[in-house]
Amino acid sequence: MYADRVLSGMRPTGSLHLGHYHGVLKNWLKLQHEYECLFFVADWHALTTHYDNPLSLEEHTWQMVIDWLAAGVDPNRATLFIQSQVIEHAELHLLLSMMTPLGWLERVPTYKDQQEKLTDKDLSTYGFLGYPLLQSADILIYRANQVPVGEDQVPHIEFSREIARRFNHLYGKEPGYEEKAEAAVKKLGGKKAKLYSELRNRYQEQGDEEALESARAILGEAQNLSLGDKERLYGHLEGGGKMILTEPEALLTEASKMPGLDGQKMSKSYHNTIALREDPETVSKKIRTMPTDPARVRRTDAGNPDKCPVWQFHQVYSNDEVKSWVTQGCTSAGIGCIECKQPVIEAVLRELAPIQERARAYTEEPDLVRNIVADGCEKARDLARETMRDVREAMGLNYG
Ligand code: TRP
Ligand code: SF4
Repeated sequence: MYADRVLSGMRPTGSLHLGHYHGVLKNWLKLQHEYECLFFVADWHALTTHYDNPLSLEEHTWQMVIDWLAAGVDPNRATLFIQSQVIEHAELHLLLSMMTPLGWLERVPTYKDQQEKLTDKDLSTYGFLGYPLLQSADILIYRANQVPVGEDQVPHIEFSREIARRFNHLYGKEPGYEEKAEAAVKKLGGKKAKLYSELRNRYQEQGDEEALESARAILGEAQNLSLGDKERLYGHLEGGGKMILTEPEALLTEASKMPGLDGQKMSKSYHNTIALREDPETVSKKIRTMPTDPARVRRTDAGNPDKCPVWQFHQVYSNDEVKSWVTQGCTSAGIGCIECKQPVIEAVLRELAPIQERARAYTEEPDLVRNIVADGCEKARDLARETMRDVREAMGLNYG
């Protein structure tokens, strides 16, 4: 209904690795050219599971932002900020908590899954149960309608949609709503107002989606409507109350093909990562010592690429020519594994070189990073405050 706005957050886990780069960051780099983008460090979310060790948060936060910038996230295109620096998220989380049924939170699949998985932690906390609601506040406070996430996070976006819908339903029917909506229609001007009403009837009576689109376009282009009137009419158009909060959609990020050094998913806890800022020596050594097809004991044994993690790296980094050289050479024992790894080493180093170059500029001048984030926080705060004004008004809290 408004122009597309993309928001995504990442918990501060310290240095990022190639799994993050191929799985998330490359997607962000593309999105920043296509949409208005907000990217933030979800440090409060990190606390939901690491409440017993908050001291590393600050370091991890700055390292992560440096990695974003090094990967090519452009602060002139995207707004970068830190969740805890925009305290309005906490206020919205609190207010939403008043109308969030406990059952909804208990039913979010990550709740039980994570509790069962992270057995070394006591996650029977209030904060952990509220994780998806805090995430909803992150999204709804910016009226972001597109949220790039992986498969595992889709239920959280669904949850956020339900929260927005419930909020609008409960608080969107302000006193005198119908009269206010009628008055707003008049403000569109004679011809447009008539057309809007016709389109609205067509949609509401016949479910005509095209009519809905056209009517939305009229509202989108209307110069003389206040933001409040627009919200009223977007809701009125569909037969509901004022749309105070926007229902977000998940922008599903394709799962990355980037495996870890051992062929499992790349993850710090598996100790199979290549960090974005790892020095070239170490990177080369890590790849040189990667496991290969276990059946290939001697150089003269033929191998099977499908049983080899190096082959998975070739899928990410090599062109068809190199790939057929590998299959041919491996299955005939024509090439050795060290030889086979060489193009991978070169490709990874080539990918990391510009990233590490940019990272150097930022690590040498920490103020640069601080300023980028300070600017981003300020922009985010302005947007968040606008929404909170509407939320407080809708909930009858705009006194004092
Ligand atoms: N839960 C997300 C994750 O673990 C991080 C996150 C927090 C987030 N708030 C968000 C992602 C808002 C998208 C939008 O990856
Ligand atoms: Fe793996 Fe390449 Fe060795 Fe075959 S030749 S086992 S694909 S590293």
